[in-house]
Amino acid sequence: MEFIIFGIIAYLLGSVPTAVWVGKVFYGTDVREHGSKNAGATNTFRVLGKKPGSIVLAVDILKGVLAVSVPVFFSSDGVEQTTNYQLVAALSAVLGHVFPLFAGFKGGKGVATSLGVIIGIHPPAAAICLGVFLITFILSKYVSLGAILAALCFPLALEFIFKNNFIWLRAFSVLLALAVIITHHKNIGRLLKGNENKMNLFRK
Ligand code: G3P
Repeated sequence: MEFIIFGIIAYLLGSVPTAVWVGKVFYGTDVREHGSKNAGATNTFRVLGKKPGSIVLAVDILKGVLAVSVPVFFSSDGVEQTTNYQLVAALSAVLGHVFPLFAGFKGGKGVATSLGVIIGIHPPAAAICLGVFLITFILSKYVSLGAILAALCFPLALEFIFKNNFIWLRAFSVLLALAVIITHHKNIGRLLKGNENKMNLFRK
């Protein structure tokens, strides 16, 4: 029962379509009709600018952190079972972000929310993934490439740096990496063709 309750709460949190609501309420724009047509922080930066982009990024990360914090606050079970609830909540939050109930199931690619759930579940691994993202992004200017490499880094860091031997965390990390790769399939196509959008952080 707890799995279902924490899963539903997390899905609803993930379903808050920050990019869509910020765009529509403050700019009269649905970001899903512009730029990459993705309802995420990157496309909000691209279409609407730094301020709304930063707000969407922060809220989307927070959704993930909150979703995996709920079981910690409300579960009366032991550490291992609570971690299992967190893993289900984490996947549900990312699912909600990609297929949001409150925005016609047309959401984002799950990167910021994935970062949020990793921050909540394994902060040191999150720091390494963030580092991989930032280095890749700064060197290449491709947000998507940074996101894909950071996602791949998550199961690898757990395995080889943190020597994780909790099987469900291992399974979760592989699923999360796969989810990010799947949501980026169009970006991967563009990266291979050499026509992926670059992001210049220093533009006005
Ligand atoms: O977080 C999504 C990012 O990796 C790619 O976004 O809008 O360039 O497809 P976008």
